[in-house]
Amino acid sequence: MGSLAFEPADEGKGVKPPLTPEAPDFSRGVTHLGGEAEVSIGDVVVKKRKPKRYRLKEIDEMLRIKRTRAEARLISMARRVGVPTPIILDVEDDTIVMERIYGIPVKECMSEEISREIGRLVAKLHSANIIHGDITPMNLIHSNGRIYFVDFGLAFVDSRIEAKGVDVHVYFEALKAGFENWENLRDAFVQGYLEFGSEEVLRRAKEIEERGRYVERS
Ligand SMILES: Nc1ncnc2c1ncn2[C@@H]1O[C@H](COP(=O)(O)OP(=O)(O)O)[C@@H](O)[C@H]1O
Ligand SMILES: [Mg+2]
Repeated sequence: MGSLAFEPADEGKGVKPPLTPEAPDFSRGVTHLGGEAEVSIGDVVVKKRKPKRYRLKEIDEMLRIKRTRAEARLISMARRVGVPTPIILDVEDDTIVMERIYGIPVKECMSEEISREIGRLVAKLHSANIIHGDITPMNLIHSNGRIYFVDFGLAFVDSRIEAKGVDVHVYFEALKAGFENWENLRDAFVQGYLEFGSEEVLRRAKEIEERGRYVERS
């Protein structure tokens, strides 16, 4: 998801890439092609869910509209509980138009301080029973001293410890895969999480990791 590297369109400091057929016009923004959606990043961000050809056309349309609405609703809900997310500007069928967050993907500026703040914010989401579903450094943007959550494409509402534990587990796995100092980053997250969230969720995340190890070995 969101795996293509990109240069923000406005950070070229006036140096534009040559407009040859091989070089896309970056001044118009950048498009991410993920598994589910096409995300165009310009003055605003336009996220359009792609049709799935293997699904019946009517069912596919209905699902895309439903999931698009759910994603927009959860982005707004998160903002209301104090978690920075882009402002939703428009929702139409399979497309969300939202505020562009100008910043640096957390993947490129991770620190213990940032991971601690992510912990606080995930605990706030969980206090409202919002499960993000894909907490990875690609879906977090550092901007003006704040951490913004984007990509609520897999998000849902669930009050259970298990759902929250899995949410935290996904983040820990992303840390392990992406950073050498993942243990320090995980400990910092735990400190932040405990400011607003419950220890039970963290215990469950640990259990889920152990379950995973057991499955891998057997
Ligand atoms: N509102 C936004 N402002 C700035 N960048 C964004 C915004 N929304 C998404 N992005 C960037 O686009 C990438 C892809 O968007 P995302 O919603 O994660 O789509 P996908 O579901 O395909 O992963 C993100 O990883 C992020 O880098
Ligand atoms: Mg994403």
